[in-house]
Amino acid sequence: MDRRKFLKISGFGVGGAIVTGLGVNMFGGFGSKENYYLQGNYAPVKELVTETRLEVVGNIPKNLNGLFLRNGPNPMSPPDAKKYHWFSGEGMLHGVRLDSGNALWYKNRLVSGNDSTANTSVISHADKIYAIVEAGNFPVEIDKEMNSLETKPFYGNRNEGFTAHPKLDVNTGEMHAMCYDYANNFNSINYVVIDKDGNHKSTQEIEFPSKSMLHECAITENYMLVFDLAVTFSFYKLGRGYFPFSWNDNHQSRIGLLNRHNGSKKIKWFEIDPAYFFHTVNAYEDTNGNVVVDAANYDRLFDTDWNGPFTESPPQLTRWKLNVQSGVSKKSRLDDRSVEFPRIHPDLSGKYNQFGYLLASANASTPDFSSIVKYDFNNDSSTAYEFGQGHMGAEPVFVPSENPTSEDEGYLLSFVYNQADDISDLIILNAQDLNSGPLARIKLPQRVPYGFHGNWITL
Ligand SMILES: [Fe+2]
Repeated sequence: MDRRKFLKISGFGVGGAIVTGLGVNMFGGFGSKENYYLQGNYAPVKELVTETRLEVVGNIPKNLNGLFLRNGPNPMSPPDAKKYHWFSGEGMLHGVRLDSGNALWYKNRLVSGNDSTANTSVISHADKIYAIVEAGNFPVEIDKEMNSLETKPFYGNRNEGFTAHPKLDVNTGEMHAMCYDYANNFNSINYVVIDKDGNHKSTQEIEFPSKSMLHECAITENYMLVFDLAVTFSFYKLGRGYFPFSWNDNHQSRIGLLNRHNGSKKIKWFEIDPAYFFHTVNAYEDTNGNVVVDAANYDRLFDTDWNGPFTESPPQLTRWKLNVQSGVSKKSRLDDRSVEFPRIHPDLSGKYNQFGYLLASANASTPDFSSIVKYDFNNDSSTAYEFGQGHMGAEPVFVPSENPTSEDEGYLLSFVYNQADDISDLIILNAQDLNSGPLARIKLPQRVPYGFHGNWITL
C-alpha cells in the first residue's frame, strides 16, 4: 500500500507500560524538580467513591448493559517526585455500571489482592475479569462490584507473570500473549496461551537475548508477532533508580513472525528502521499473504528524556508490510497526526479492520488528548471528534452494537476530563457519527486521572 495521508495536525499521545517487577522507580524526572506526571489530571485521587446518583445528559443506549472499567496508576502515598514514574503507581480502577439506559453507579477501587501493581489494563475472559500488567507481575481477578479477589489467575495453573496486552484469537476464543520478566529470566520470553475457558493451555519459552521492552504483541491467522524494537533494558538507568529501559541506537529494530500452528520456536525476523511503539492498531494477513502491522510509532523515546515518552518524538500512525516470501518489509507513514491508544472492533483482532479509533492530540510538547480520530482504511479517510476547549479524553473503547450490520455500528466510550471544573464525565459516542457529539454524557462525582487501558464488560 502506498503512503497515505489523513488530515494533518501535529500533536502527541501516550503509551502505557510497567516494569515494577524490577523493583525500581521508573520515569524518574531526571534533572527536573517537578514531575509532570503528578500534576494536573495525572495527579492521583485519594477518595474511594461509590455514587449511585449520576446525572446523565442525553440518552444512554438501552442495549449497553454492562460495566465500563478502566485501569491506571494512582499512587496513594506521596512518591518521590523526582523519581516517580507515571507507569509505577498502584493500580486503580474506575468503573461505570450501565443497565437498560440507566447509569446505576460509578466507583473507583484500588487493585489489591495478589498484586497492587496490576495497573495497566483490565480485561474480561471466560467470564472472569482481570487487572493486568506486564514484566512479571500477576493478574488480579476483579469481581463485578470491582473488588479485588485473592484467587489465583487462570485457575491457578499458571503461576508466573503475564502481559498488559494479550490478544484474542477470535477463531478459537483463546487468549495469546508474549510475556517477559527480565528480573527473573534475562534471556528468554514466554509465549502463553489461555484457553477459551480461562485455563492456562501452554507456555512456550523462546530464546530472546535482546531484552527489549515487549509492551505489545500481535496475532494473525498464522502468526504471533514479536516486536523487538529500539528500547532495551538499561543497567545504567537501573543502577540510578530510574526507569530501566532506554532508547538504543545499537539495537536493530525488527518484527518477528512466530508460526503459531506448527510449534516452532524459530522466529522469522524482518529488520526495520529504528522504531518503538507501545500499541498496534491491529495486525493481519492480506490477500497476498503479506503481514500488515499498523502501530502508533515513535521515532525516538526514552533517550534524552528519562521522564517519559512525550518530548522526543510524537507517535504517528505507521504501517509495516512484511512480505513473508521475500523477507522484505516496507514501511509507510499513514498520518502525520499524533495518535495513541488505538482500538478496533474486538472481533477483528488479527483480521482486516476497516476502522480504527485513536486518541489524538494537537499539542506536540504536552499532549492535550483533544480528540478522537476514526480512520477508515478502506477509503483512506478520517473523521474526528473534538472534546472541546479544556476537555481532554482518554482511550476510546469501541463497543459493537448487538447484531451489527457494519463494522462501525456501535459506540465509543471514553472518560473526558473537564479542566475548568476539575471533574470527569463518561461520554458515549455513536461510532458511525462522531460529529453529532455524545449520545450521553454521564457526570461523575470526581475526576478520573489519565490512565491506560479499559474495556467494556457485558453483564
Ligand atoms: Fe498499553
